[in-house]
Amino acid sequence: MKHYTSINDIDNINSWIEEAKEIKANPLTNIEIGKNKTLGLLFFNSSLRTRLSTQKAALNLGMNPIVMNVSGDAWGIEFGDGTVMNGNTAEHIKEAAAVVSQYCDVIAVRAFPTLTDKEKDNSEQVLNSFVQFASVPIVNMESATGHPLQGLTDAITIAENTNKKKPKVVLSWAPHIKALPHAVGNSFVQAMQKMDVEFVIANPEGYDLNPEITKDTPIYHNQAEAFKDADFVYTKNWSSYESYGQNLGGNEDWVITKDKIGDAKFMHCLPVRRNVVVEDAVLDSESSLVIEQANNRTYAAQLVLKKILEDL
Ligand code: CP
Repeated sequence: MKHYTSINDIDNINSWIEEAKEIKANPLTNIEIGKNKTLGLLFFNSSLRTRLSTQKAALNLGMNPIVMNVSGDAWGIEFGDGTVMNGNTAEHIKEAAAVVSQYCDVIAVRAFPTLTDKEKDNSEQVLNSFVQFASVPIVNMESATGHPLQGLTDAITIAENTNKKKPKVVLSWAPHIKALPHAVGNSFVQAMQKMDVEFVIANPEGYDLNPEITKDTPIYHNQAEAFKDADFVYTKNWSSYESYGQNLGGNEDWVITKDKIGDAKFMHCLPVRRNVVVEDAVLDSESSLVIEQANNRTYAAQLVLKKILEDL
């Protein structure tokens, strides 16, 4: 595999899940494969899980991870073509990506959307600029429209926690105090579309995700109806796609409660705002898989890095 930028880079999700489970059972089996290889992790935005689990994955493969908070510590990077750089940006992505490629064998990038410019966000300017101007493989650690390491993690976690041939999985919007990106929701939708599950989405009117991603997945605007017979309830807030990047307010009654989800397993990518998105009684119950999900971030990242290292 050359790059991992999207869930669409997964050729066979079932075989990937099986391989991830093998890695989880014996995480140090491939400790030699990344020897003398360097992974550069570039963060334009905050992170706890992605930052630590991707470094842990690299270490389990014998790689040397190096990390930079680009927004705080690097020169301001210009992405525009032909820009007269007399403003706040001091270095063009053409030089930055070429230079980092000399220090690193693989580059992983986190760069969130603007949530103000739909066209720019959908163009994945930052991620695609690294793909275009770097000479080494690129891993998406959450971009404007996708979080494929999280989506792969979630697929692994669902597979590990069901005995059913075709479990029912619901992706439910939940309230939040801020306007949040669509990336986690998008990649979860794409991952579930590749799995043998009964998959539906629940969100209030005005919050339908990009129809080019949801395709023919059923969308309910009635949460209770969607939750009927659910085996897994995956929760995430996202801002409106139609009224791009807006938190439309209201809908506090979409908070996830124990009464609503019954015996279904609860999933969330974290971080999560307790008693805004989901009540304590859910997160503190046996039904919650959130800590297990966060653990699986390491093995999802390790699988992706292993596949890239095998093709270097
Ligand atoms: N789920 C996730 O990506 O967490 P971080 O933002 O902390 O990396």
